[in-house]
Amino acid sequence: MSYLRFIYEYVKNPRNVGAVVPSSDALAKKMVENIDFSNARCIVEYGAGTGVFTKKILEKKNNNTIFLSFETNEKFFKILKDQLSIEENNNFVLINDSVEDVEKYLKMYNVSSVDYIISGLPFTSLPKNISDKVLTLTKKLLQDKAEFITFQYTLVKMNFFKQYFDNISYKRVLFNIPPAYVLRCKNLDK
Ligand SMILES: C[S@@+](CC[C@H](N)C(=O)[O-])C[C@H]1O[C@@H](n2cnc3c(N)ncnc32)[C@H](O)[C@@H]1O
Repeated sequence: MSYLRFIYEYVKNPRNVGAVVPSSDALAKKMVENIDFSNARCIVEYGAGTGVFTKKILEKKNNNTIFLSFETNEKFFKILKDQLSIEENNNFVLINDSVEDVEKYLKMYNVSSVDYIISGLPFTSLPKNISDKVLTLTKKLLQDKAEFITFQYTLVKMNFFKQYFDNISYKRVLFNIPPAYVLRCKNLDK
């Protein structure tokens, strides 16, 4: 069902959705494998879609970790709300708004620093001014050891990411349609 919904939403808004099908479980595992769940105080997700990464984070996060997950698409947001039992997941907030307003929500939930930002945003197809705004904000939000973790289907945007992060490592995930790269981005200059 969520596959059909994904294809439908992609056809309606290809630049924002950016993928024809949701990410695989293998990609979700790789996206979260370096998160230190026992010490993370706050995790933010950009572009939850139908929740492949969201569910993985909820399975592993500890109750004290604040987890804010953003999704602009109303249909996807409804699927997320229906599927994830919010009351059972302490400190989890689903937000039907753009990550361009992430700072407003961090203030609202009294979050002073973010440890991990996990992103499903389609930077290859998003308008450049939005990508620039989101990455400028992201760089500002990341503290010393914090990480921005994203995936890309190709490495064509690597130089673009390098404008914001000076330490980027990546791994390939073959079991995804299409195969993808998981990028771990950090900053050394803080
Ligand atoms: C490629 S999909 C990824 C979905 C999911 N994380 C996955 O990997 O299957 C990108 C998602 O980002 C959402 N999105 C695009 N721009 C956004 C924004 N500015 N703020 C929040 N979500 C956004 C889209 O609606 C879409 O659901």
